Order: sequence, then C-alpha cells, then structure tokens
Amino acid sequence: MPQARILVIDDEQPFCDVLCGVLRKQGHLVEGTETAENALALLDRRPFDLAICDLRLPGMNGLDFLRQVAERKLGLQLIIITAYGDIESAVEAVKLGAVDYLTKPFLFDDLILRIDRHLSHLALEQSHAALQDELLARYEPRSFVGNSPKIMRVRDLIRRVAPTTSNVLISGESGTGKEVVARAVHRLSERHDRRLVTVNCAALPDTLLESELFGHSKGAFTGAVRSKEGLFLAADAGTLFLDEIGAMPLPLQSKILRAVEAKEIVPIGTTASVKADVRILAATSTDLAAASREGKFIDALYYRLNVFEIHMPPLRERKEDIPVLVTHFVERFSQELKKRVLGVTDEAMAILMAYPWPGNVRELENAIERAMILTDGDHLTPDGLPHSLQALAAGPAERPLDLRSVLRRAELDHIGAVLVLTGQDKVKAAKMLGISLSSLYRKLEQPEPEPGGDGPAADSAGET
Ligand SMILES: Nc1ncnc2c1ncn2[C@@H]1O[C@H](COP(=O)(O)OP(=O)(O)OP(=O)(O)O)[C@@H](O)[C@H]1O
Ligand SMILES: [Mg+2]
Repeated sequence: MPQARILVIDDEQPFCDVLCGVLRKQGHLVEGTETAENALALLDRRPFDLAICDLRLPGMNGLDFLRQVAERKLGLQLIIITAYGDIESAVEAVKLGAVDYLTKPFLFDDLILRIDRHLSHLALEQSHAALQDELLARYEPRSFVGNSPKIMRVRDLIRRVAPTTSNVLISGESGTGKEVVARAVHRLSERHDRRLVTVNCAALPDTLLESELFGHSKGAFTGAVRSKEGLFLAADAGTLFLDEIGAMPLPLQSKILRAVEAKEIVPIGTTASVKADVRILAATSTDLAAASREGKFIDALYYRLNVFEIHMPPLRERKEDIPVLVTHFVERFSQELKKRVLGVTDEAMAILMAYPWPGNVRELENAIERAMILTDGDHLTPDGLPHSLQALAAGPAERPLDLRSVLRRAELDHIGAVLVLTGQDKVKAAKMLGISLSSLYRKLEQPEPEPGGDGPAADSAGET
C-alpha cells in the first residue's frame, strides 16, 4: 500500500495517540492533533493526503472543519469518525466532501482497510493525471507552455473534459492559445486517432461555409459540378473544431444546432439525412453570451456548445508565463532558423515583462521570431524587439517630452498593437481605429519621433 501523509483529529487524546500509532505501524507518516483549528494550521503548512476527523470537537466542529477544507481545495481525502452514531451529520459530512465515515467503536482493521482503499484510489487518480500531463507535453508538437496558476487550471480543465464527449467552448482574446487548447482536448480524447477537422467560420463567405460544412450533391447549385462530402462527415467519429463560431451567420447556426442535436446532417441539394457522430469544439474571441442576448447568436446553440467552457486568460493577466514562453520560442526558432541563441538579456526580459501584450501569446511569438531573425549574438537584446516594446525601455531622459511627439509615439504604439490584433490586416485595423484606410497609411508613412527631440513628425500628431 502507498505510504501516505495522514492527519488525525480527535479531542480524546489517548484514542488519538493509539490511532496514530496503529497507522504509523502501517508505514504512514502520521500527525495527531486535538482541535480542528490546529489541524487547519497544520494543513496550511504542509500537504496531507488524508485526514481522519472526529465530528464532535471542542471549538470548531468536524463539519465546519470540512467546510474550511473544501474551500481550500486541498485535494484532501477526509474520513469522519463519530462516537454518537449520528447518521444525519455523517450524511451531511459526505455531502460536504468526506469520502467515508465510521461510528465509534470500530475495529482498527476496518479503518485500515478503508484507508487503503481510498489511498489506492487517490494514487490511481494521480498517476492518471501525471500520465496525461506527459502525453500533453510529448505529443503536442507546439506544446502547451505555461505554469501560472491560471494555466494550471486550464490544464486541469482540459484533462477533465478531454476523455468525455462533451462539446467545449473555448473563449478568450485573439492570440491567447484557443487553438492550442482545442488540439490538446482532441489529443487527450478517446477520438485522438480520428481526425480533428478545423473550420474557421470567419474566413469563408456564408454560402461557401455552408457547403464546406454540410457537403452538397452534384448540381445542388451553380458550380456544384460534382458532389462533395462536407466537413461534418469528414469529422465523423472524430472532432470538429469550429473556430470563430461567433462569425457564423444565423441561418447556418440553426443548421449546426440541428446537426448537434440530432447527430445527423442533410447535405445541400439532398433530402436524406446522414448520420454524423461528431464532437464539437468551438472557439470565440467575442462574447457569445452577449451575442445570444442580443439575438445575434441562437440561445439553444450557445447552451449546446457551452456545456463546458474553457476560458483562456489574456497574457497580461498571467505574466509569470512570459519567461517560460520566451524560452520555449527561443528554442523553437533556434531550431527553425538554425541559430544558436541561448536566451534573452535581463534588459530585454524586463521589457517583455512590462509590455501589456494586446496581441497575447501570438504577439510575443512574433516579437521573439523577429528578434531571432535580427540577432547575431547568443542573447536577444532590446534592439531586436519591435518599436512599440523598445519605447518602454527608453528612460524619461531619452523620451521626447514635447506633447506632439509623445502623442505621436502613443498613436504609433496603439496602431502597432491594433495591427497585431488584426494580423497586419490594414483594412480591419483602420475600421477598428475609426479612421480611413488612407489616413492609416499616411500615419504609418510618417517618420517616427526622434528620441529626445521634436523630429519632423512633431507636427503631425494633431491630424486625423
Ligand atoms: N501556451 C502556449 N504555449 C505555446 N505556444 C502557444 C501557447 N499559447 C499560444 N501559443 C502560440 O501562439 C500562437 C497563437 O495561438 P492560437 O492560434 O492558439 O491562438 P488563438 O486564441 O486561437 O488566436 P485567434 O483568436 O487569433 O485565432 C500560436 O502560434 C500558438 O502556437
Ligand atoms: Mg485561433
């Protein structure tokens, strides 16, 4: 049986001592205490696998202790013991998360047997989780990097939902890694040896999107010279990843809803339905809940897709991930570009940590790639970073101080960020910025303000 760290809480000291002794003989690391308050203090200091707790205690009672433990999400298994045969509280305890209960007097052998059972169960769960982590790291070529608490939580969600057949909605700003998550879910699912078919709903015109998804018969519409199997059927028994689902037009949404509910589709130009067993992962960078409130997204489809939501937090909310991501990208581009770069200088890292990353991981990836292309040294320096980042490094002494240059600088930085968001699409960027395409070009063509001086660009800041 695995050795475990066990905490015994019982106010009857002789009993507590005997129980601790019995468990130590079984090879466990055991600590005993007489109050729940003490127990919580111990739990805050070091990890335990299992606790055995009396229900009636002076001060905080066993049920309140359970509530506190549940709140701390310690992954602790709790066995309740009670002298009073008080079944009602025992039931309450199990509801609160206790794995088992025993009434005093009980046979130590019985307790040991139960402990062993719970510990084996725990060990099995842990080894399963470790195995999946390993799979996630090994089989994901563009692996899923990050160890901030927020990313650990995402990993945990992926691990839990992947083996089910539930649809998953992956939300998050552009460039946060939604597609990375979708791949990981598919890879860890039972469908991993079947296809993962990806469709970007924002990239295709409505009519084309429909025939891509559902297929069509020969002659179904002008241009349909031969019949075509849709992506729903291509993903049969596998996974369909609907990227940017928010961009899907309403009539198509209702067709998708039917396909999801009935697990069958009707190709365009035909009347017979065809079975398609597809697990759907959908991604969105817009607020689908709001869209469904506004009638732009069908409620029923939203609820069908949102059975399980994984939200990818923006990079600025998990800056701890920046150093590991940087290392990951430096290693990857070193291989791809056949360069020997070992890392980034402290100065460059300080800038990378300070920048708010509106384009998230994709923007970071692009910044590192650019710096890697430009570098001749073995460490990336601030010089190779994009201008919007370098501006952060310039101390106040080197910064232009006159208002026009400062405004111009801010304008350029903002335009740069919006361009990253739109994947350098200037038409989209101009729309987001609320200016015409030609004024966007004009703004980009003007020279940048000189550090410290009022350069030739100084008189352009007021113009739109
Ligand atoms: N945690 C991560 N570890 C390693 N690479 C990552 C991670 N997150 C994102 N990336 C990389 O960043 C880039 C953007 O990720 P991805 O395409 O998954 O984002 P997205 O949220 O789908 O963006 P969009 O909304 O624009 O489609 C990809 O090249 C991806 O490999
Ligand atoms: Mg994407």
